Amino acid sequence: MLEISGLSKSYGPVHALSDVTFSVEPGKVTALLGENGAGKSTLVKILSGLVTPTAGAIRVNGAPVDLSSPERASRSGVAVVQQEISVLPNLSVAENFMLTQPSRWLRRGSAPALCAPYLNRLGLGHVDPGTAVGELTIGERQLVEIARMLSQDARVLVLDEPTAALADSDIELVHKAVLRLASEGNVVLYITHRLNELDEICDAAVILRNGRLADQFETKDASLTRIVHAMIGRELDELYPDTPARADQALPAPVVRLKDVVAGGLASPVSLDLRPGEIVAVCGQLGSGFVEPLRAIAGVSPLSGGAIEFQGATASNAKAEAVAYCSDDRQLDGFFRDLPVWESMSAPGLAQSGLWGLVRPSRLRQSVDAIAERMTILPAYRERPVHALSGGNAQKVSIGKWLSSKPRILLLEEPTRGVDVGARAEIYRLLRALADDGLAILFASTDLDEVLGFGERVLVFHDNKLVHQAPSAELTRDQLATWITHGSIDRE
Ligand SMILES: Nc1ncnc2c1ncn2[C@@H]1O[C@H](COP(=O)(O)OP(=O)(O)OP(=O)(O)O)[C@@H](O)[C@H]1O
Ligand SMILES: [Mg+2]
Repeated sequence: MLEISGLSKSYGPVHALSDVTFSVEPGKVTALLGENGAGKSTLVKILSGLVTPTAGAIRVNGAPVDLSSPERASRSGVAVVQQEISVLPNLSVAENFMLTQPSRWLRRGSAPALCAPYLNRLGLGHVDPGTAVGELTIGERQLVEIARMLSQDARVLVLDEPTAALADSDIELVHKAVLRLASEGNVVLYITHRLNELDEICDAAVILRNGRLADQFETKDASLTRIVHAMIGRELDELYPDTPARADQALPAPVVRLKDVVAGGLASPVSLDLRPGEIVAVCGQLGSGFVEPLRAIAGVSPLSGGAIEFQGATASNAKAEAVAYCSDDRQLDGFFRDLPVWESMSAPGLAQSGLWGLVRPSRLRQSVDAIAERMTILPAYRERPVHALSGGNAQKVSIGKWLSSKPRILLLEEPTRGVDVGARAEIYRLLRALADDGLAILFASTDLDEVLGFGERVLVFHDNKLVHQAPSAELTRDQLATWITHGSIDRE
């Protein structure tokens, strides 16, 4: 049993956690829920010995545990998957495994051989333990991080949004591993913003709001409405905005056109038209090539075949066409970590808001504030450096910054990763309104509900080929999942 009593943590005037008391039973999966900034990751960081609480106590099986450093936390039997990927890119997979408990790995001999079974369990059998982590995709890094947790022989396992960056098939493997850990009698605390995971693997839920305990229940007793209400303090009517009904020919000419494009790992050419006002989704398993159309348009993946036309003219310079591209690695290129939020958010629009090279900060602030408000970034957060923001709030900065530059083509990878359900509804509505004003949006997502709910048209990739495209209204979730995993659909 994990008991948390009177736990508080303040960062200066910010009360990230206030007098939180609850306990987590072993043998089942307990979800820890709450909107962005509610204090979930702060609790995780305390459990992993990274952050010292201002007050409170933590017991495991009735005895206080020493969480005064990550090493001690690990020795006390607490293993953690952090929200922001914490495996080190310059070290190999095996070396990253050793980092958590160096003495144990050295004593037991060859690290590569020892970590292989854990990699296998999460479908990473193809990854050589000698590979530098930096060469893996974000999804693979996330899986390495989870595999490393599995290797730790811990009694208390805490996973902070482990599936936020993963596709369904990987999520299934993670779920299996998590359920097994719980059935072995461990304490499992599981954080997610993908609320369908509650039904799938969680037995109980604890909800935080503004750093306080808001609710606690067995998931079988709770409706989604109650859960969402406890999280965001209000009911949520519609997550996705309506797609305007219109005939195909009603849309203007394409703003960008991919003609037989081969780029990145693509194994066959892809053609695609993107028109102003459209919101188009691309999806697939990790590594299936579904992000390549975005990267090709953005100029991140050089073309090895075909051509891209912007407004009919072949252009090599994406910037001139006002293309905004948000990669899936927000920590790497989503914002300036140490600058105030509003500065990160205004950077892409700098060139447009100046006159003769001079910029008026007050003018800049105004344009950013309007976007920040619609993206539910609280006024108090806008002065803080991004590194002091919660994961979901940092994600909002990462997308929001592009809107100040008034792009005509917006390319988003995993746009709402880690964003809570209430803020997601706002962001979808904002993006829909921008599209209605003529923005063309192409987004890549592993969240199939988002793909079908927010995309008007869906392109499915399998094994580096475009295998299917259809209006989202003509696809069920099951069909889409089948296309993604098999690259075809059984028509018998
Ligand atoms: N290093 C820090 N300095 C100052 N404030 C911080 C720091 N880390 C977190 N906070 C603040 O503490 C609060 C709780 O953040 P936390 O990361 O725990 O939220 P969360 O529930 O994990 O949210 P999310 O779902 O977005 O990940 C937020 O208001 C955040 O801005
Ligand atoms: Mg968090």
